[in-house]
Amino acid sequence: MIRIICVCGARPNFMKIAPIIDALKSNGNFQTLLVHTGQHYDENMNKSFFGELGLPEPDVNLEVGSAGHAVQTARIMERFEPVVLDFKPDFVLVVGDVNSTIACGLVAVKLGVKLIHVEAGLRSFDRTMPEEVNRVLTDSISDLLFVTEQSAIDNLKKEGVNSEKVHFVGNVMIDTLLANKEKAQRSDVLRRLGLSEREYGVITLHRPSNVDDMAMFSQIVAAFEEIEKELKLVFPIHPRTRNRIKDGELGGRIEAMKNLLLVEPLGYLDFLCLMSNSALVLTDSGGIQEETTILGVPCMTLRKNSERPVTIAEGTNCLVEMTAQGIVKAYRRIRQASEKGKVGPKSPKLWDGKAAQRIVRIIAEA
Ligand code: UD1
Repeated sequence: MIRIICVCGARPNFMKIAPIIDALKSNGNFQTLLVHTGQHYDENMNKSFFGELGLPEPDVNLEVGSAGHAVQTARIMERFEPVVLDFKPDFVLVVGDVNSTIACGLVAVKLGVKLIHVEAGLRSFDRTMPEEVNRVLTDSISDLLFVTEQSAIDNLKKEGVNSEKVHFVGNVMIDTLLANKEKAQRSDVLRRLGLSEREYGVITLHRPSNVDDMAMFSQIVAAFEEIEKELKLVFPIHPRTRNRIKDGELGGRIEAMKNLLLVEPLGYLDFLCLMSNSALVLTDSGGIQEETTILGVPCMTLRKNSERPVTIAEGTNCLVEMTAQGIVKAYRRIRQASEKGKVGPKSPKLWDGKAAQRIVRIIAEA
């Protein structure tokens, strides 16, 4: 049996790890340990996803919780090391670009355990993003790198990564989306929130560069103030963002918008249903750029860069000039284009729901 530890920690990790766990189980040659670092812990940022995605309860929860980067990363490393020493895996598998990804990756390689990175090679070329640092470092110490798009292969080649370690397998987040798309349509989230198909936009916002910078956040809110005059907006608010606006002027402005509905973070199926029936999405998330591409929903990425360029070149995603005016202008352009029926579902190469199966086949032969 091949012994493998799979790591998850933050919300976007859960939909990536779910199809991998499934594929490992059905392969039959693996003994798997699922470790949750506890980076995300609120019911609606964490537990609800396990039930909905059919993920088993984690075998180990490191319960690290929130802290600054150094403390959070160090805490994960300290608590993960004994787990690795005890289980003696052949591989540690990490996904994405969160602090749990690099922390567990470092522990693995220092103990001489082979490291697998799923969603390798993506680059925003912006080292002020904590995720970019996590991506570059994790890739540089990984033994097997599974990528979602051609740009990732090019980036890794430029960084001198041996091409034999790199495998283009598709996108595990899209495996989960395709497996759950029909089920999500049965969600009653539109009825609960009083929404009609294609008559609202969805907002998600949590990047430090947007919500920790009050001048930038204020520009974004000013854009929402314009857009909500024309289109109802639904805003499931991330706890980081909620903390930033608590008791402040921006919180007051957001609450005052009659056509903007502020709601708690939603579960996976509700959010998928909300997104797929929306007129457009305004977001600074990484994964949502990919999900909207497959769903054929226009996506305005509220950032200066994207580490997922295939979603712009082939998908429904666009970058937006980060001023109030720039955001409103992009919104008008997208609305006009979608009224003319110019958007539709797009399917980048190998985003076909079988990425996890390919990954497991390659690990089994490694
Ligand atoms: C993390 C990831 C980011 C990812 C995002 C998805 C890093 C560096 N960042 O950002 O890449 O896009 O997750 O959500 O790993 N909090 C709660 N409850 C929770 C979790 C967090 O209240 O369950 C609050 C805490 O105040 C915490 C803050 O959110 O301090 C930030 O959490 P943290 O995990 O540090 O980063 P995210 O912003 O969630």
